[in-house]
Amino acid sequence: MIYPISFAPLQGFTLAIYREAHAEVFGGVDTYYSPFVRWERGSVRNRDLHDIDPKYNILEHARFVPQILPGNVDEFRSLMMVIVRLGYHEVDMNWGCPFPLLTKRHKGAGLLAVPDEAKRILNALSDYPDIRFSIKMRLGMTSFDEGIALATSLNEAPLYQITVHPRVGIQQYKGEADWDAFARFVDRCRHLLVYNGDIQSVENIEQLTGRFPTIAGVMIGRGLLSRPSLAAEYKTGKRWSEQQLREGVRRMHDIIYSYESSVCQGEVQLLSKMQCFWEYLSPQIDKRIFKRLTKCTKLKNYLEAAKDI
Ligand SMILES: Cc1cc2nc3c(=O)[nH]c(=O)nc-3n(C[C@H](O)[C@H](O)[C@H](O)COP(=O)(O)O)c2cc1C
Repeated sequence: MIYPISFAPLQGFTLAIYREAHAEVFGGVDTYYSPFVRWERGSVRNRDLHDIDPKYNILEHARFVPQILPGNVDEFRSLMMVIVRLGYHEVDMNWGCPFPLLTKRHKGAGLLAVPDEAKRILNALSDYPDIRFSIKMRLGMTSFDEGIALATSLNEAPLYQITVHPRVGIQQYKGEADWDAFARFVDRCRHLLVYNGDIQSVENIEQLTGRFPTIAGVMIGRGLLSRPSLAAEYKTGKRWSEQQLREGVRRMHDIIYSYESSVCQGEVQLLSKMQCFWEYLSPQIDKRIFKRLTKCTKLKNYLEAAKDI
């Protein structure tokens, strides 16, 4: 059986132009999520609104789902006003972000440490009968027991799906995703469940789905940033050659460069935006070219290095 693959939201990386370019050049992904949109000082940042604007999220062979990051039920309702106004019928909620600045305000994984607030949000879901809700969560802020204890409330909530990243918030990205903790949640959860965390290869997907055959899909983040063909390789059963991969990366780069050069203000901004693109791609690029791309300080040198990929 081939399982659906989703591309994890990654703030600063998987923005609208990246999602579009990835879907066009590599494919293999069934669902793309936006990085989280948060409510701050009474509004949503313009650039976040732009990123989830439906007109920039038309993907031919994949679904797009916007993600919100509410820290309490009032923020949830404010963010839902934005989602409804944009005409969406589906939204994902982030209950997993581990960044201390956000968790201390009960956002992301921080919400798992205040179960009463999490339950208030779950109770509010029924006020939006036209919206399909999913949650992407860790299994706790400080202990897996927090996430497991929420399973009953989650089971009662009108959710379409839950994606679980089996780490706790205080771990950030340290240690390994814990498959035994995920197994405890699988046993208790009655919703469709997607697994997320540390999937780097087709073999990893197969090991995972071999152990958890009832899951509804696999979400991959950094594994797809560093090997953008991973989902396509899994779906087709064919490994991309180094040359195919490099050509794909070059095409994807050119699409993103063409977009960024039309919106960035000045060379410095453009260069720093483009240098981010390479951050996870070092396994696919010759070491010297990678260094030239990521360390140069002039756009002219950057473009020369990009030609050599
Ligand atoms: C740089 C970075 C930005 C992220 N941004 C988001 C985000 O906006 N929303 C979210 O739900 N998770 C976010 N995550 C978490 C990822 O979606 C994912 O859960 C995590 O990287 C584990 O999956 P992976 O091992 O396949 O990368 C981010 C992770 C990283 C490293």
